[in-house]
Parts: sequence; structure tokens; C-alpha cells
Amino acid sequence: MNEEEILMLTIALPKGRILKDALDLLQEAGYESPFSIQDSRKLIFTHKDTTFILVKPADVVTYVEHGVADVGIAGKDVLMEEDRDVYELLDLKISPCYIAVAGLPSYQDTGVMTKIATKYPNIALTYFKSKGKQVEIIKLNGSIELAPLINLADQIVDIVSTGTTLKENGLVEYEKIVSITSRLIVNPVSYQMKDERVGNLIERFEKVIEKQKIKG
Ligand code: PRP
Repeated sequence: MNEEEILMLTIALPKGRILKDALDLLQEAGYESPFSIQDSRKLIFTHKDTTFILVKPADVVTYVEHGVADVGIAGKDVLMEEDRDVYELLDLKISPCYIAVAGLPSYQDTGVMTKIATKYPNIALTYFKSKGKQVEIIKLNGSIELAPLINLADQIVDIVSTGTTLKENGLVEYEKIVSITSRLIVNPVSYQMKDERVGNLIERFEKVIEKQKIKG
């Protein structure tokens, strides 16, 4: 890395649900990110010494692991699901939600192998294993709530945020598995080589988090 590269910072931001919270946090932290980012189809924005890239939430960790982004904002769900070579440095306390087991209110456990539709096969398997329950996992990439409605699966393991998607599809929550917030993740090489820029980002985020804690 030359000196110019060391001074630049690339931040991977997740598109979708978390983006607004992530941009608000960056703005509060004093980063002049291009806030038109939300209304645009552009995927890369550079402002002064910082580049922002917009990626699918589940891919943030891939960009950071490969070092093409120095840091990223990723949901704890993704970090739990995949064991990747990145440092998780800070709980940003944004976009709180949780992972739950849900299904139709009429579902009766017959004791035979329950079929679980989910984006999170590892989290689901670990959870059911801890309960001593054998399940068959059906991996989906989205619209998980559809699965029990059309008999693809008996239950789902998915993110619940406002609860609207469950409600509007006539599903109920059976058990909560784990609380989720977004985290700041860092590439291990960037953490060493760009310690000043990364350290500064962490400091600024910590101040905002502290301020928001006081505000309640
Ligand atoms: C997520 C999640 C649920 C929904 C929960 O889906 O998988 O479907 O949000 O939010 P709610 O409790 O506020 O309704 P997302 O919007 O990311 O889309 P997806 O179906 O493509 O996964």
C-alpha cells in the first residue's frame, strides 16, 4: 500500500433495510457521505478521501474479507451465519431486530422431521440442535414467509423487525432465537495499515452511540 492508498478509506454499506440507519449514523459521525445515495442506482461514490460502495447486506462481509472495502456495516445475522476472516469491532446499535422461529398458527408438531425454510441454515441448525431437535433445512434467499403458506416448509427461521411481514402473511412467532444489530467490521490488513483512519472512524461512531445512549 502506498501512502495515498493508506489515506483512503473504502466503506461497504448494505443496501435495503439497514442503509438509512447506516447513512444517518455516518452523517451524525461527521462523514460527508453522498446522501443522495438512497435515491440513486449508482453503486460507488467517492467523497474526498472516502469511497462508499453499496452492496447486498449478505455480501458486505465478502467485500471486507477480500480487502476491496476496508470496513463495512454488516448485520450480526450475517456474521453469525458465516465464519469469515474479518474483525467485528463495534456494535453500532442500529437496525435492531431479531431472528425467530415462526409459522402458521395451526401448525402442529407431529414429531417427524420438521422442514425449516431459512436464509440462515447454520443459525437454524445450531439452534434446533441445541434443542435436541432434528430438522430439514430448505435454504431460500428471500420471501421466506411464503414457504409455510404453500407447504414448502413447516416453519421458518427469519428476521423479525416490525413484525409486519409475519402479520400480513398470517404467520405467528413461536420462539425468539437471538437479538440482532448492525456491526462495524474491518479487514485485518486495513486494521493494521490504516489504523489512523479506522481508529478515527471507530472513535466518531463511539461518540454518536454514547450520545444516543444518553438521549435514551
Ligand atoms: C426481511 C426479513 C423479513 C422482513 C422482516 O426481509 O427476511 O421478511 O424483512 O421485517 P418486518 O418484521 O419489519 O416485516 P427483507 O425485507 O430483507 O426481504 P427478503 O424477503 O428479500 O429477505
